[in-house]
Amino acid sequence: MDKTFILDGKTIPFEEGETIMEAASAAGVYIPHLCHHPEFKPHGSCKLCTVSIGGRLGASCTNKAAAGMVVESETEALNADRRALTQMLFVEGNHICPSCEKSGNCQLQAVAYHLDMLTPHFTHFYPARDIDASHPDVLLERNRCILCELCVRASRDVDGKNVFGIGGRGIKSRLIVNSASGRLADTNLSVTDRAVEVCPTGAILRKRHGFTVPIGRRLYDHHDIAEVPVAGMKEPRSS
Ligand code: SF4
Ligand code: FES
Repeated sequence: MDKTFILDGKTIPFEEGETIMEAASAAGVYIPHLCHHPEFKPHGSCKLCTVSIGGRLGASCTNKAAAGMVVESETEALNADRRALTQMLFVEGNHICPSCEKSGNCQLQAVAYHLDMLTPHFTHFYPARDIDASHPDVLLERNRCILCELCVRASRDVDGKNVFGIGGRGIKSRLIVNSASGRLADTNLSVTDRAVEVCPTGAILRKRHGFTVPIGRRLYDHHDIAEVPVAGMKEPRSS
């Protein structure tokens, strides 16, 4: 591997066709992200992974690495933008962490900690989106959904079921369930589906599994999200 680019002053090797995010992850460098997952095609919706590529802003999960490019990620300005984006995600949903069973294992919360988000800053929307508790084993809490479409991609591309989709426009965008009734109970979703496991927030939850891990032993209790590899992430390669 002889192709490299510079990320925050560090030389990062990459393979032809890799994105900046993929090459950075493989080099053990964390770039904040929420809608990216190494197993799925990039989605480019959360914009948290935005970096400066030769002075031009772009999503590192969708922009391909190129030899000699100079990329900045860990700047005060970019992290301030990421913090604002995360604050927007918090206020447009009902992310009430103290009462959410995903707390401590939630990527949205962990990214907020990583970015030193101390307040929601913006005015809360307090949406009243439908909660779907119809499925015997899975709960869908749309007010915690960040529309990352990871469940959509997992259900379609891995589970081969196409249970989820996104409907509506703008602020009315919602996670929809592809059944005639629109209810989870009327799909062939199984609790063991990848789509159930991959949700980064508390929007898709396995029933009867809440609050089983004591405080202090949850995924992000002692480790910043930058130190916790996402399941499925390739091992950092040695450069
Ligand atoms: S339910 Fe979860 S995985 Fe699906 S779009 Fe919402 S936040 Fe993403
Ligand atoms: S991780 Fe790149 S836009 Fe969401």
